[in-house]
Amino acid sequence: MTQATRGMPVRFLVWLFHLALPLLGLWLLLTVPAADVLLEHHPTHFWLVATVAFVNVGLRPYYAEGSKTIALETAEQLGWRAPDHVVVPVASGALLTKVAEGFRQLRRVGLIEDAETRVSGAQPQGCSPVATAYLEGTDEIAPVRYPDTIARSLAIGAPADGHFALREVRGSNGALQAVSDDEIVEAVGLLARTEGIFAETAGGVTIATLERLAASGVVRPDETVVAYVTGMGLKTLDGFGMAFGLEATIGPKVEALLEAVPA
Ligand SMILES: Cc1ncc(COP(=O)(O)O)c(C=O)c1O
Repeated sequence: MTQATRGMPVRFLVWLFHLALPLLGLWLLLTVPAADVLLEHHPTHFWLVATVAFVNVGLRPYYAEGSKTIALETAEQLGWRAPDHVVVPVASGALLTKVAEGFRQLRRVGLIEDAETRVSGAQPQGCSPVATAYLEGTDEIAPVRYPDTIARSLAIGAPADGHFALREVRGSNGALQAVSDDEIVEAVGLLARTEGIFAETAGGVTIATLERLAASGVVRPDETVVAYVTGMGLKTLDGFGMAFGLEATIGPKVEALLEAVPA
Protein backbone atom coordinates (compact mmCIF):
# COMPACT_ATOMS: atom_id res chain seq x y z
CA MET A 1 0.00 0.00 0.00
CA THR A 2 1.44 3.41 -0.97
CA GLN A 3 1.47 6.48 1.26
CA ALA A 4 -1.39 7.98 -0.81
CA THR A 5 -3.69 4.96 -0.66
CA ARG A 6 -3.05 4.32 3.04
CA GLY A 7 -5.03 7.45 4.05
CA MET A 8 -7.98 6.68 1.80
CA PRO A 9 -10.23 4.79 4.23
CA VAL A 10 -9.95 7.66 6.72
CA ARG A 11 -10.67 10.27 4.04
CA PHE A 12 -13.67 8.23 2.91
CA LEU A 13 -15.01 8.11 6.47
CA VAL A 14 -14.57 11.89 6.88
CA TRP A 15 -16.36 12.42 3.58
CA LEU A 16 -19.17 10.10 4.64
CA PHE A 17 -19.47 11.97 7.94
CA HIS A 18 -19.85 15.31 6.16
CA LEU A 19 -22.52 13.85 3.93
CA ALA A 20 -24.38 12.34 6.88
CA LEU A 21 -24.34 15.51 8.96
CA PRO A 22 -26.97 17.55 7.06
CA LEU A 23 -29.21 14.48 6.89
CA LEU A 24 -28.77 13.97 10.61
CA GLY A 25 -29.66 17.60 11.26
CA LEU A 26 -32.79 17.30 9.15
CA TRP A 27 -33.79 14.12 10.96
CA LEU A 28 -33.24 15.80 14.32
CA LEU A 29 -35.32 18.80 13.30
CA LEU A 30 -38.20 16.61 12.19
CA THR A 31 -38.20 14.11 15.03
CA VAL A 32 -36.79 15.63 18.22
CA PRO A 33 -39.26 18.04 19.87
CA ALA A 34 -36.68 20.49 21.24
CA ALA A 35 -34.63 20.69 18.04
CA ASP A 36 -36.58 23.66 16.67
CA VAL A 37 -35.91 25.49 19.93
CA LEU A 38 -32.20 24.72 19.56
CA LEU A 39 -32.25 25.94 15.99
CA GLU A 40 -34.01 29.14 16.98
CA HIS A 41 -31.59 29.95 19.81
CA HIS A 42 -28.36 28.62 18.30
CA PRO A 43 -28.79 28.94 14.53
CA THR A 44 -25.06 29.10 13.84
CA HIS A 45 -24.33 26.14 16.08
CA PHE A 46 -27.09 23.90 14.90
CA TRP A 47 -24.87 21.55 12.92
CA LEU A 48 -22.50 21.32 15.81
CA VAL A 49 -25.45 20.54 18.06
CA ALA A 50 -26.59 17.93 15.56
CA THR A 51 -23.18 16.29 15.70
CA VAL A 52 -23.06 16.41 19.46
CA ALA A 53 -26.58 15.04 19.67
CA PHE A 54 -25.52 12.11 17.56
CA VAL A 55 -23.03 10.96 20.15
CA ASN A 56 -24.48 12.48 23.31
CA VAL A 57 -27.02 10.61 25.40
CA GLY A 58 -27.28 13.80 27.49
CA LEU A 59 -29.58 15.34 24.88
CA ARG A 60 -32.89 14.02 26.16
CA PRO A 61 -35.55 16.65 25.55
CA TYR A 62 -38.44 14.81 27.20
CA TYR A 63 -36.34 14.07 30.27
CA ALA A 64 -35.03 17.63 30.50
CA GLU A 65 -38.41 19.33 30.04
CA GLY A 66 -40.13 16.70 32.20
CA SER A 67 -37.73 17.44 35.05
CA LYS A 68 -39.31 20.88 35.37
CA THR A 69 -42.52 19.25 36.56
CA ILE A 70 -40.69 18.50 39.83
CA ALA A 71 -40.50 22.26 40.41
CA LEU A 72 -44.17 22.63 39.48
CA GLU A 73 -45.24 19.88 41.89
CA THR A 74 -43.07 21.30 44.65
CA ALA A 75 -44.58 24.77 44.29
CA GLU A 76 -48.10 23.35 44.13
CA GLN A 77 -47.58 21.23 47.26
CA LEU A 78 -46.21 24.24 49.15
CA GLY A 79 -49.40 26.20 48.38
CA TRP A 80 -48.04 27.95 45.29
CA ARG A 81 -44.80 29.23 46.60
CA ALA A 82 -41.26 28.16 45.93
CA PRO A 83 -39.00 26.77 48.65
CA ASP A 84 -36.11 28.94 49.85
CA HIS A 85 -33.60 26.21 49.10
CA VAL A 86 -33.58 22.91 47.20
CA VAL A 87 -31.04 20.08 47.36
CA VAL A 88 -30.91 18.06 44.14
CA PRO A 89 -28.92 14.91 43.30
CA VAL A 90 -26.60 15.42 40.34
CA ALA A 91 -25.55 12.92 37.66
CA SER A 92 -25.62 14.64 34.25
CA GLY A 93 -26.75 17.88 35.92
CA ALA A 94 -29.98 18.10 33.90
CA LEU A 95 -32.34 17.56 36.83
CA LEU A 96 -30.81 20.34 38.93
CA THR A 97 -30.69 22.73 35.99
CA LYS A 98 -34.27 22.11 35.00
CA VAL A 99 -35.69 22.27 38.52
CA ALA A 100 -34.09 25.72 38.85
CA GLU A 101 -35.49 26.74 35.49
CA GLY A 102 -38.92 25.41 36.44
CA PHE A 103 -39.12 27.77 39.43
CA ARG A 104 -38.00 30.68 37.24
CA GLN A 105 -40.70 29.94 34.69
CA LEU A 106 -43.36 29.75 37.41
CA ARG A 107 -42.27 33.21 38.57
CA ARG A 108 -42.27 34.56 35.05
CA VAL A 109 -45.91 33.56 34.51
CA GLY A 110 -46.88 34.91 37.93
CA LEU A 111 -47.84 31.62 39.58
CA ILE A 112 -45.41 32.12 42.46
CA GLU A 113 -43.86 35.15 44.11
CA ASP A 114 -40.71 36.72 42.81
CA ALA A 115 -38.16 35.44 45.32
CA GLU A 116 -35.08 33.44 44.49
CA THR A 117 -34.70 29.75 45.34
CA ARG A 118 -31.20 28.69 46.33
CA VAL A 119 -30.12 25.55 44.51
CA SER A 120 -27.64 23.08 45.99
CA GLY A 121 -26.35 19.86 44.46
CA ALA A 122 -25.41 16.44 45.82
CA GLN A 123 -22.90 13.95 44.40
CA PRO A 124 -21.23 10.75 45.63
CA GLN A 125 -17.50 11.07 46.29
CA GLY A 126 -16.73 8.17 43.95
CA CYS A 127 -18.07 10.22 41.02
CA SER A 128 -18.28 13.90 41.79
CA PRO A 129 -16.97 15.90 38.83
CA VAL A 130 -19.39 18.81 39.33
CA ALA A 131 -18.99 19.02 43.11
CA THR A 132 -15.22 18.85 42.72
CA ALA A 133 -15.22 21.76 40.26
CA TYR A 134 -17.39 23.73 42.66
CA LEU A 135 -15.20 22.97 45.68
CA GLU A 136 -12.04 23.83 43.74
CA GLY A 137 -13.56 27.08 42.52
CA THR A 138 -13.08 26.29 38.86
CA ASP A 139 -15.32 26.16 35.77
CA GLU A 140 -13.39 23.19 34.44
CA ILE A 141 -15.29 19.95 35.03
CA ALA A 142 -12.70 17.18 34.89
CA PRO A 143 -14.29 13.90 33.78
CA VAL A 144 -14.16 10.94 36.14
CA ARG A 145 -12.92 8.01 34.11
CA TYR A 146 -13.63 5.20 36.53
CA PRO A 147 -16.58 6.03 38.80
CA ASP A 148 -16.50 4.05 42.03
CA THR A 149 -19.54 4.53 44.21
CA ILE A 150 -22.56 2.62 45.49
CA ALA A 151 -24.72 5.45 44.06
CA ARG A 152 -24.53 4.03 40.56
CA SER A 153 -27.50 5.99 39.25
CA LEU A 154 -25.46 9.17 39.80
CA ALA A 155 -22.23 7.79 38.36
CA ILE A 156 -21.94 9.85 35.19
CA GLY A 157 -18.26 10.65 34.77
CA ALA A 158 -18.67 13.26 32.03
CA PRO A 159 -21.85 15.19 32.93
CA ALA A 160 -23.36 16.80 29.83
CA ASP A 161 -25.13 19.54 31.80
CA GLY A 162 -22.48 19.92 34.47
CA HIS A 163 -21.61 23.48 33.46
CA PHE A 164 -25.24 24.54 33.62
CA ALA A 165 -25.65 22.93 37.04
CA LEU A 166 -22.53 24.67 38.30
CA ARG A 167 -23.85 27.99 37.03
CA GLU A 168 -27.23 27.50 38.73
CA VAL A 169 -25.61 26.62 42.05
CA ARG A 170 -23.15 29.51 42.03
CA GLY A 171 -25.72 31.99 40.70
CA SER A 172 -28.26 31.17 43.41
CA ASN A 173 -25.77 31.13 46.29
CA GLY A 174 -26.20 27.40 46.82
CA ALA A 175 -23.43 24.83 47.20
CA LEU A 176 -22.35 21.39 46.04
CA GLN A 177 -21.00 18.61 48.22
CA ALA A 178 -19.64 15.11 47.62
CA VAL A 179 -20.43 12.48 50.24
CA SER A 180 -18.84 9.10 50.97
CA ASP A 181 -20.46 5.68 50.57
CA ASP A 182 -20.62 5.35 54.37
CA GLU A 183 -22.45 8.66 54.68
CA ILE A 184 -24.86 7.55 51.94
CA VAL A 185 -25.79 4.31 53.75
CA GLU A 186 -26.07 6.17 57.06
CA ALA A 187 -28.40 8.74 55.48
CA VAL A 188 -30.61 6.05 53.92
CA GLY A 189 -30.98 4.52 57.41
CA LEU A 190 -31.76 7.92 58.93
CA LEU A 191 -34.47 8.61 56.35
CA ALA A 192 -36.00 5.17 56.90
CA ARG A 193 -36.01 5.50 60.70
CA THR A 194 -37.30 9.06 60.86
CA GLU A 195 -39.61 9.32 57.82
CA GLY A 196 -40.43 5.73 56.92
CA ILE A 197 -39.01 6.27 53.43
CA PHE A 198 -36.68 3.63 52.00
CA ALA A 199 -34.57 5.49 49.47
CA GLU A 200 -32.13 4.20 46.92
CA THR A 201 -28.48 5.21 47.20
CA ALA A 202 -29.10 8.46 45.26
CA GLY A 203 -31.58 9.48 47.99
CA GLY A 204 -28.86 8.82 50.55
CA VAL A 205 -26.54 11.13 48.61
CA THR A 206 -29.12 13.92 48.82
CA ILE A 207 -29.85 13.47 52.53
CA ALA A 208 -26.17 13.13 53.48
CA THR A 209 -25.46 16.32 51.53
CA LEU A 210 -28.36 18.06 53.25
CA GLU A 211 -26.89 17.06 56.62
CA ARG A 212 -23.50 18.46 55.66
CA LEU A 213 -24.93 21.70 54.31
CA ALA A 214 -26.99 22.17 57.46
CA ALA A 215 -23.99 21.44 59.69
CA SER A 216 -21.86 23.99 57.84
CA GLY A 217 -24.59 26.65 57.93
CA VAL A 218 -25.16 26.76 54.15
CA VAL A 219 -28.68 25.44 54.70
CA ARG A 220 -30.16 27.73 57.33
CA PRO A 221 -32.76 26.79 59.97
CA ASP A 222 -35.07 29.60 58.86
CA GLU A 223 -35.25 28.31 55.28
CA THR A 224 -37.96 26.15 53.74
CA VAL A 225 -35.82 23.38 52.27
CA VAL A 226 -36.86 20.66 49.85
CA ALA A 227 -34.47 17.71 49.37
CA TYR A 228 -35.31 15.48 46.43
CA VAL A 229 -35.27 11.73 47.06
CA THR A 230 -35.45 10.43 43.53
CA GLY A 231 -35.47 6.66 43.77
CA MET A 232 -36.58 3.83 46.01
CA GLY A 233 -34.35 1.49 47.97
CA LEU A 234 -35.37 -1.84 46.47
CA LYS A 235 -33.54 -0.75 43.29
CA THR A 236 -30.16 -0.66 45.00
CA LEU A 237 -30.23 -3.35 47.70
CA ASP A 238 -26.77 -4.58 46.70
CA GLY A 239 -25.30 -1.14 47.40
CA PHE A 240 -26.25 -1.30 51.07
CA GLY A 241 -24.23 -4.45 51.76
CA MET A 242 -25.14 -5.83 55.19
CA ALA A 243 -26.22 -2.43 56.56
CA PHE A 244 -29.90 -3.28 56.67
CA GLY A 245 -30.20 -6.93 57.62
CA LEU A 246 -33.41 -8.83 56.94
CA GLU A 247 -35.72 -8.84 59.95
CA ALA A 248 -37.88 -11.65 58.65
CA THR A 249 -38.62 -13.61 55.51
CA ILE A 250 -42.32 -13.82 54.74
CA GLY A 251 -44.54 -15.29 52.04
CA PRO A 252 -45.98 -13.09 49.25
CA LYS A 253 -49.36 -12.60 51.01
CA VAL A 254 -50.94 -9.55 52.65
CA GLU A 255 -51.79 -11.72 55.68
CA ALA A 256 -48.13 -12.66 56.10
CA LEU A 257 -47.15 -8.98 55.93
CA LEU A 258 -49.77 -7.96 58.49
CA GLU A 259 -48.59 -10.72 60.78
CA ALA A 260 -44.93 -9.68 60.48
CA VAL A 261 -45.66 -5.93 60.78
CA PRO A 262 -48.56 -5.51 63.21
CA ALA A 263 -50.49 -2.25 62.86
C1 LIG B 1 -32.31 8.14 40.87
C2 LIG B 1 -31.71 9.31 40.17
N1 LIG B 1 -31.73 10.52 40.78
C3 LIG B 1 -31.19 11.61 40.22
C4 LIG B 1 -30.60 11.55 38.98
C5 LIG B 1 -29.96 12.81 38.47
O1 LIG B 1 -30.19 13.07 37.18
P1 LIG B 1 -29.37 14.03 36.24
O2 LIG B 1 -28.67 13.12 35.27
O3 LIG B 1 -30.44 14.80 35.58
O4 LIG B 1 -28.43 14.89 37.00
C6 LIG B 1 -30.56 10.33 38.29
C7 LIG B 1 -29.99 10.20 36.97
O5 LIG B 1 -30.09 9.27 36.25
C8 LIG B 1 -31.12 9.18 38.91
O6 LIG B 1 -31.11 7.97 38.32
